Amino acid sequence: MSEHELRISKIRNGTVIDHIAGGHAPDVLAILGIDSATDEVVSVGMNVPSDRLGYKDVVKIEGRELSQEEVEVISLIAPAASINIIREYDVAEKHRVERPSMVEGVLSCPNRNCITTEDEPVASRFAVLENGVRCAYCDTIIREGLTDHISV
Ligand code: CTP
Ligand code: ZN
Repeated sequence: MSEHELRISKIRNGTVIDHIAGGHAPDVLAILGIDSATDEVVSVGMNVPSDRLGYKDVVKIEGRELSQEEVEVISLIAPAASINIIREYDVAEKHRVERPSMVEGVLSCPNRNCITTEDEPVASRFAVLENGVRCAYCDTIIREGLTDHISV
């Protein structure tokens, strides 16, 4: 992309989540706990033309590197995303997100009778499916609105 076409500034230090499917940047922001009350420096591009995806979303967060758990949840809603760690303007690390086969402790089960939603200290556990997740305790499947069930 030429200087002419650069839509969002480069960042000095932080993380660029690139190749998010068009329209899913708000989900990524929700996963990272970034809402209107944030004081972090965040740039968001939505429906930016992309060679690989046609259109993509991009999220840039200055001064923060993501946790493994955050990357796992991002992979569930943005399986084609790449995570770029930026240090002193250079791409210091680049990796594709990997879909885990299981996510533990990051989602809460919507079933009120599930053992993980009762008082007992049982961490939630979901098997990752093609297009959703399934509670390992009660088999409840969440297909849509995954970001409404994040507990991290
Ligand atoms: N980026 C940034 N600030 C920097 C360096 C890079 O915001 N100081 C962003 C770029 O705008 C791009 C992403 O980080 O969205 C990855 O940068 P780079 O690897 O240079 O771009 P590409 O080669 O296009 O990446 P890919 O091959 O993953 O598409
Ligand atoms: Zn359950």
